[in-house]
Amino acid sequence: MCDAIYIHIPFCVKKCGYCDFLSFSCEEKNKDDRGEYVEKLIEEIRLYPKLKYDTVYFGGGTPSLLDVDEIEKILKELNIGEDAEITLEVNPQTVDRKKLEQLKKIGINRLSIGIQSFNDEKLKVLGRIHNKEVALNTYNDAREVGFENISIDLIFATPDQTIEELKKDLDIVERLSPEHISIYSLIWEEGTKFMDLLDKGELDPLDNDLEAKMYELIIERLKKIGYLHYEISNFSKKKYEGRHNSKYWKNKKYIGVGLGASGYYEGIRYKNEIEFLDYYKKIDSNEKPLMEVEVVSDKDNLENYYILGLRLLNKGIEIEDNIYMKKIKDLHERGYLKIEDDRYKLTSKGLMFSNDVFVEIME
Ligand SMILES: C[S@@+](CC[C@H](N)C(=O)[O-])C[C@H]1O[C@@H](n2cnc3c(N)ncnc32)[C@H](O)[C@@H]1O
Ligand code: SF4
Repeated sequence: MCDAIYIHIPFCVKKCGYCDFLSFSCEEKNKDDRGEYVEKLIEEIRLYPKLKYDTVYFGGGTPSLLDVDEIEKILKELNIGEDAEITLEVNPQTVDRKKLEQLKKIGINRLSIGIQSFNDEKLKVLGRIHNKEVALNTYNDAREVGFENISIDLIFATPDQTIEELKKDLDIVERLSPEHISIYSLIWEEGTKFMDLLDKGELDPLDNDLEAKMYELIIERLKKIGYLHYEISNFSKKKYEGRHNSKYWKNKKYIGVGLGASGYYEGIRYKNEIEFLDYYKKIDSNEKPLMEVEVVSDKDNLENYYILGLRLLNKGIEIEDNIYMKKIKDLHERGYLKIEDDRYKLTSKGLMFSNDVFVEIME
């Protein structure tokens, strides 16, 4: 009844310097390629039983690069529940007011806009194709055509960013008042242009203490203006938590379709083929395009439940008697976890060192 589907669209206008998501720039993939991809995607959807979805998430890459009728064609393949959350990731500069209007008409009811920063200089360093003005226009157009559930993505701790610059971004967030904000600290990923520039000494990561200070500032400021800090990097107004992503963190099953997409279905975690040719070949022979398949053991399932569950800051995890409790009690004694409503949750200290907490649980 409450199933989820993630649909991966691996195309972008231009690759951003920091990004290692599976996506190809339009110079590499033209419009005909995109049309063919949509056809194969639809065939892949047909390889799964017709489930009823109450969350649909178009992610990427840049799903907003597709034509509206291509997105509509995909939606028509799905059995979607009445109050479903249907999210589309939007890159400003790939949509105008008319396209936003059409997206609303075909049933998209939540937008996740990849703004990243409202500072033109920073946007340039990040390699984004939009500037502040375009970001603001996209947001305002989306509102004016009637989107009532808008999320924005931001990145902080970008090279040379100052507290003052971050504060200016947060001032604009306050003014825009989106229903949902995902804010990530910049991750320096292997194989990206940023890593290359780091190796050459042309870009530097921000100091760790400054990054921690920025994260604290973000939490304090967004809470003050009424946002619920419900996941490590996610904030929302009341009742606007991302329903789709929350299912991941609740360790629920979901189908993932598209190049390189992952899914968790019938006790199996899988990842699709990451090369177009391999992906197409399997679909052409009526086979799910799986590249990696892992049967989730009871132990793995529990581990996933703990690590994902702790990310949900107000939910946390149950106190149980099992092999992980010794580590959990130890983290509690050292101040990384607290007990609230009979559940373990991350403390502020745990939040600052969440990756270390998760590694400790997994070891
Ligand atoms: C899958 S991306 C797709 C969104 C969309 N393509 C865009 O960029 O506008 C989702 C989000 O992940 C974040 N992200 C991607 N790479 C990152 C990195 N290396 N460090 C921190 N955040 C990153 C960005 O905020 C981005 O909007
Ligand atoms: S951050 Fe978004 S727009 Fe930039 S390359 Fe990655 S997926 Fe594409």
